[in-house]
Amino acid sequence: MINLSGKKALVTGSTRGIGRAIALKLAEAGADVVVTGRNEERAKEVAKEIASKTSSGTLGVELDLSSTDSVERCFEKVGKEFGDIDVLVNNAGINRDVLFMRMKLEDWEEVIRVNLTGTFLVTQRVVRGMIKKRWGRIINISSVVGFIGNVGQANYTASKAGLIGFTKTLAKELASRNITVNAVAPGFIETDMTDELPEEIKENFRSQIPMDSFGQPEDVANTVLFLASDLSSYITGEVIHVNGGLF
Ligand SMILES: NC(=O)c1ccc[n+]([C@@H]2O[C@H](COP(=O)([O-])OP(=O)(O)OC[C@H]3O[C@@H](n4cnc5c(N)ncnc54)[C@H](O)[C@@H]3O)[C@@H](O)[C@H]2O)c1
Repeated sequence: MINLSGKKALVTGSTRGIGRAIALKLAEAGADVVVTGRNEERAKEVAKEIASKTSSGTLGVELDLSSTDSVERCFEKVGKEFGDIDVLVNNAGINRDVLFMRMKLEDWEEVIRVNLTGTFLVTQRVVRGMIKKRWGRIINISSVVGFIGNVGQANYTASKAGLIGFTKTLAKELASRNITVNAVAPGFIETDMTDELPEEIKENFRSQIPMDSFGQPEDVANTVLFLASDLSSYITGEVIHVNGGLF
């Protein structure tokens, strides 16, 4: 049984989908959890809901990864009301899908800004506290398409592949401080993000999945829980694929 009592976790983009499932899973294991999202009211609602389902402390805070001001404000609040973060899950991510020949600089920059630069900004804010405590877990949510590519996603796949290099370098820089840095690469998971796709594309994906079904947010959350726990203390710089055999 994994017990994260006494640990403080922060999950980016945790008002819905995979992030929400991760925040709930970590709280069920005993961690206190900061729920973050672009909409503060929604973050507070989800934090309250998780607190009512578990015995963990929660905090709901606005965090927009595209704004350095928002990152600053969030961590000021977390520092005052919650304390240093032991487990950081960089989950928030967006896509702006369009064929490369029609991709505008804004489509490229927006995705890189949130998925990659946002992760850089948030991670830098938590690492100092982890170094002081000589314990930390950083878990980055990448994607299978960062490994295999996907038509219409040059921006998104570049950001998700970039997260892998980021993970491996931080793992090397922080290993001696007892901080592990790993990535989870989900395949096709049923959330609002994938709900938007046309049926034909979904069916095409499903036909390539040996397990012949899509994953659930909980499948990703279970893997994150393992990486956040002491069961994975000798694993760093790794990527765990959660994709039903797709890759
Ligand atoms: N669903 C899948 O099949 C799948 C597959 C591989 C990887 N992923 C990755 O998993 C993560 C979660 O995806 P999901 O399917 O739950 O998507 P989702 O769209 O349901 O959730 C994304 C979350 O990120 C937040 N977010 C968006 N822009 C933000 C910003 N500027 N600042 C802060 N937060 C922001 C959203 O509010 C939301 O909470 C993403 O990084 C996604 O790329 C998803």
